[in-house]
Amino acid sequence: MSRFFLGVVTAAAMLASGAVQAADLAAAKKKVSEVCQACHGMDGNSQVPDYPKLAGQNQDYLAKALRDYKSGARKDPTMNGFAGTLTTQDIDNLAAYFSTQPTVLQSRM
Ligand code: HEC
Repeated sequence: MSRFFLGVVTAAAMLASGAVQAADLAAAKKKVSEVCQACHGMDGNSQVPDYPKLAGQNQDYLAKALRDYKSGARKDPTMNGFAGTLTTQDIDNLAAYFSTQPTVLQSRM
């Protein structure tokens, strides 16, 4: 019964947020824990100024950045390598995942 309820809630949540409907957030989370976390943080709130914060960033922007790193249209020795290993589905999943993480704002003064 509770499992059914959970399923309904999950389905409703996915319908409500149409933007992330087709994305596999669990797969994205796995990829982040294996690869991206080291620099960008598990939730995309990097603690290191050299690594951009991805949390709460626009989903289309994130996907474009990753496609451009992959194609070489955007050049960065680090990200060209990591994005090169991602599939189109990975990119959609990761962009959806990071765009739905809450941004933590902080002062670096
Ligand atoms: C070794 C550190 C490192 C790892 C691991 C890493 N990144 Fe990055 N990432 C960077 C750096 C450095 C930049 C800034 C590059 C630039 O100036 O274009 C960046 C930039 C980005 C950007 C563009 C952000 C913006 O504001 O334009 C995205 C999106 C991104 N990374 C996603 C990922 C994803 C997804 C993964 C895992 C598959 C990942 N990164 C793994 C270091 C890393």
